[in-house]
Formats: sequence, C-alpha cells, structure tokens
Amino acid sequence: PVRRVTAPQIADRKGAAPIVALTAYTAPMAAMVDAHADVILVGDSLGMVVHGLPSTIGVTLEMMILHGQAVMRGSDRAMVVIDMPFGSYEEAPEQAFRNAARVMAQTGAGAVKLEGGARMAPTIRFLVDRGIPVMAHVGLTPQATNTMGGFKTQGRDPATWPAFVADARAVADAGAFSVVVEGVMEALADQITDAIAVPTIGIGASARCDGQILVLDDMLGLSGRVPRFVRRFGELGKEADQAIAAYAAAVRDRSFPAAAELYR
Ligand code: KIV
Ligand code: NA
Repeated sequence: PVRRVTAPQIADRKGAAPIVALTAYTAPMAAMVDAHADVILVGDSLGMVVHGLPSTIGVTLEMMILHGQAVMRGSDRAMVVIDMPFGSYEEAPEQAFRNAARVMAQTGAGAVKLEGGARMAPTIRFLVDRGIPVMAHVGLTPQATNTMGGFKTQGRDPATWPAFVADARAVADAGAFSVVVEGVMEALADQITDAIAVPTIGIGASARCDGQILVLDDMLGLSGRVPRFVRRFGELGKEADQAIAAYAAAVRDRSFPAAAELYR
C-alpha cells in the first residue's frame, strides 16, 4: 500500500520546496486533490461551504468525523488533517485530547488542526506528547469571528506584530508540526516564517510562507463572493450553471433523453 505523507515529513519541509495544501470535504474531491497535494485539510470551513452555515461556529465533531472519513476513503497518499471544531478543544487539554483522539481513531487521519496562539500552547503540548500531531492556526482565526467582529485582516497595526510572532513561536515550541498563517499583512507573515523552525502554511499571508493552502471550492470558482486572497484557478461554478441550464432546456423541449440514451 502507498504510504501517506507524515507529520515529521511536513515538519522537515521548512525552507524547502513549498508544501501544497488544499481543503477537501468529500471522497471524490479528496481523490482529485490527492493526485497533486501534500496535505488535504478537512477544514471546518465545510460548515459554510457545504452546509450553508453563516460561520464555522455551528460545526460539530460529528460533522468533522463524517467528512474526515469520506476524505480518507477518497485519498491514499496525501496527509489528511482534520480541523477541531469550535467548542471541542478550548476548555482544557483533557477535553481536547478526548475529542482529538476520537477524530484520529474514527477517521484514521494523520493530524488535527486547532486555532489559537500562546493560549493554546499547553493544549498542543498535551496532544503531541500523547501521540496526536497538531497543525496550529494563527492570525485570522475564523472561530473567533464573534470576538474579532467579523473576518478581518490581522496585523494592520505593526504595533500588534510582536504578539502574533509570539503566538507562532509558542505553538511551534509546544510541538506543532506546522502553522497555518491566515489573513495577515505580508510583512507580518514573513516575520512569522523567519521566527519559527516549523513550516508556515499561508492563506492570505505571503508567497514566502513554507506552503500555501486555499479552500478548494473557492479556488475552483464554486463559491460566490471570495476574499481578496483567493485566486480562482477555475470557473467550475459557471460551467455547472451552464450544464444545469442546458439540462433544464433539454428536458423542457424533450430532446433529452435521446434514442442513444434509451433501452430499446
Ligand atoms: O477551515 C479551513 O478551511 C481552514 C483553512 C482555510 C486554513 O482552516
Ligand atoms: Na478552519
């Protein structure tokens, strides 16, 4: 059997060839991403992208496990990382371990990801010491949307940069094998990348990060309005709309199904 990419292998990619990461939430999408990416993230963005929630706050552990299982079935090479949803890990290291262990055991994924800087460092240490690789996530952390007052680019005031760098250092020192840096000023992202010994994975951050990640549906052009940092590498939404419109027209004018599409 093909061996999957491991957390230590990702950690070793600091300053090396950029790490290619994308989200996926379903088996067929995971199979497509698996052919090209090092890391597949089952992001809690699935709450908004797949389930139509207004934020990631309503995402449950059960949703993450169900989509994590689908992504594992659809892939066999990339490392699969599963987001810990809001409320499943913040209370205490023991709570985080209990829930992260469930995610690992029921999906077979290679790691979990959780949001937060220095305040989450003891939890990250607790998990890593007990066999659960952790990807950290600093900068714009969407689960904090209610305290941030929306999805806002972080570090616009350089006076705040030392605190963000300290957050990244704290999670790296606690044993995180990589750190997602989201929605920050480019120069701050560069400071963070230079400050820590494990890879940074940027999203709305900097081309100098050790890797990049995007939400798959966003980069494929399957979602509506997207942030400035998303490049649409495809326009699958437009293609899907045209295909669905063509189907509707063909049904209405009875040109579908045609003779070749019927059992005669
Ligand atoms: O939930 C998600 O998709 C994420 C990535 C955008 C980093 O956390
Ligand atoms: Na997330």
